Amino acid sequence: MPIQRLHPDTIEEVKQRADIYDVVSDYVVLRKRGKDFVGLCPFHSEKTPSFTVNQAKQMYYCFGCQAAGNAIKFLMELEKTSFAEVVLDLARRYQVPVKTLEFEQTQELQRQLSLREQLYEVLALTGKFYQHALKQPQGEKALNYLLRERQLSESTIQDFALGYAPAGWETLYRYLVDNKQYPVKLVEQGGLIKPRKEGGGYYDVFRDRLMIPIHDVMGRIIAFGARTLGDDQPKYLNSPETELFNKGKTLFALDKAKTGISQKDQVVVVEGYFDAIALHAAGINNAVASLGTAFSLEQARLVLRYTDSKQIIFNFDADAAGVNATEKAIGEIADLAYKGEVQLKILNIPDGKDADEYLHTYTPQDYCQLLENTPLWLDWQIRQIIKDKDLKQATDFQQVSHKLVKLLTNIANSDTRNYYISHCAEILSLGDSRLIPLRVENLLTQISPTTNYSKPAPSSTNISQSINSNKKRPLSEGTLLEAAEGLLLQIYLHCSEYRELIFDNLEERNLQFSLSHHRFLWQQVLEVPENLGHDLLSTVQNRCLEFPEYMGSISHLFYLSEKGQKDMLRVPQVIQAAIASMERVITEKRYRHFLELWQQTDAKMEPQQAAYYYKAFYAEKQKLQLLEKQRQFTISDLL
Ligand code: UTP
Ligand code: MN
Repeated sequence: MPIQRLHPDTIEEVKQRADIYDVVSDYVVLRKRGKDFVGLCPFHSEKTPSFTVNQAKQMYYCFGCQAAGNAIKFLMELEKTSFAEVVLDLARRYQVPVKTLEFEQTQELQRQLSLREQLYEVLALTGKFYQHALKQPQGEKALNYLLRERQLSESTIQDFALGYAPAGWETLYRYLVDNKQYPVKLVEQGGLIKPRKEGGGYYDVFRDRLMIPIHDVMGRIIAFGARTLGDDQPKYLNSPETELFNKGKTLFALDKAKTGISQKDQVVVVEGYFDAIALHAAGINNAVASLGTAFSLEQARLVLRYTDSKQIIFNFDADAAGVNATEKAIGEIADLAYKGEVQLKILNIPDGKDADEYLHTYTPQDYCQLLENTPLWLDWQIRQIIKDKDLKQATDFQQVSHKLVKLLTNIANSDTRNYYISHCAEILSLGDSRLIPLRVENLLTQISPTTNYSKPAPSSTNISQSINSNKKRPLSEGTLLEAAEGLLLQIYLHCSEYRELIFDNLEERNLQFSLSHHRFLWQQVLEVPENLGHDLLSTVQNRCLEFPEYMGSISHLFYLSEKGQKDMLRVPQVIQAAIASMERVITEKRYRHFLELWQQTDAKMEPQQAAYYYKAFYAEKQKLQLLEKQRQFTISDLL
């Protein structure tokens, strides 16, 4: 396509989405070192790594050749392409819709840019105006409120640039328009004044309120929150959405918190302006507030840039509304959380206090203690699910276990899932530990109802037929997979020198055993303490003896038949084939997923999207064929 001018929104979104680590690691093997990643510089030749990648800053820097920049610059330099090409490529990769500009639009954009500059200016001046008013006699009530009721210090008031909007109807209007000569329309677009319904003229949006400026990440005022000093409704009046202010994409106090978030490698998200202010005043400088709307995915993306280990703690109110907001917020980022891409924790302060109220009675250290003891979100969710339920009642039990299964199904990481499966099994066993294995088994079968492989899914028929056609007896896909997994476990148990290889392969490809008894055995393997590793086989066997219900299907793996001993002679090939068999399961899912998306996309309406899906499913298909070859050599031969 002819390169038109890219819309700045597209460029901005690509910048937001494209992660420097992602981009660079396609070209450079990166290893974690402290807060950075390091690798061999692709821009000059070297033997020891001096090329560093910093995710919090989204920058790379080479100490050897001083190459430096962001993800886009990296690709431009490396691929020797233009800015636009790189942005387009990244847009495709991260599925950012591409918007372009016609000539007229370009001009319009110039106008908008200068509009934005002017708005920043008006808002900055307005902020100063409110700050000044707070120190005048008319602002005394507001100042006292801050000092006495909110117990804020002069320096916190200064840091947050808090102010007071005088009570008159046109105070700000007169100051900005009559006195400073700003165009009325501009002030209106800043969300500061509104046209009167009758009789013409304008009036101030904020009157007789405590003013809390909202800054963007760079510290420029983009809006205001305004609290009543009495009982007026609403309690907080916020700036309307403007050219500068988009509520869902803004977090209060992020400009002040970003350094703290980086240092503590963690962000605390609260509901209220004053919760954030009180936390910062108490030295807890990694807090942001979500502006009263539900915390959005975009807001999550905004803060996650500053924390390497992607730790978010939600500290919302513990009342019904707060729990609701928490649930909603979790829903927004559940995808990321299930995949382990964020480490989400939920803090509900006892007695239903918010952070601000808590800090009036307790010390900052107490609050930090709460943060440290905060449960992971899955634990919080599990608690919500069993709250007020009587598991001795059949209907409650049913309901709870149904909800738990739903929760568990979504956890992508097998270690995490296994951990929570046993945790939930314990809960459902109501203190009778003999019931736990049974509950585990039940949960496992409900979580993966697909373990019955006797009927291969339609789209895999061709492939399995083609490999089975020249064999003595036809083997179902399920038998093959079971054999592959069994062999892998057998090798792991019997050949210590291959353990690392197998473990790394499974981890790297994020593979899980599909059969529940294999998953169970693998779990036992992982739970063997390091110092017993030399005696893995018998330790695992002993552990498994306590679970007779599994022993039936796994006991043969603890012994090597004569044939098995022969097979051990070509272990590397067997491992490769077995891994390929397992990887095939996921690859096929992905293949079907993209195929479906492609079929649902109208190629005329969304040609780029369609092309993207086509490429994606085609790539998976090719991978499937490759995997097929790798395992052909073959598992069924070994049976
Ligand atoms: P809360 O009602 O929990 O207020 O609203 P709070 O922060 O504890 O208020 P204080 O302590 O009485 O001052 C939480 C947040 O929701 C938004 C504001 O951002 C507020 O800080 N909100 C609330 C509004 O935008 N408008 C409202 O009318 C109320
Ligand atoms: Mn409060």
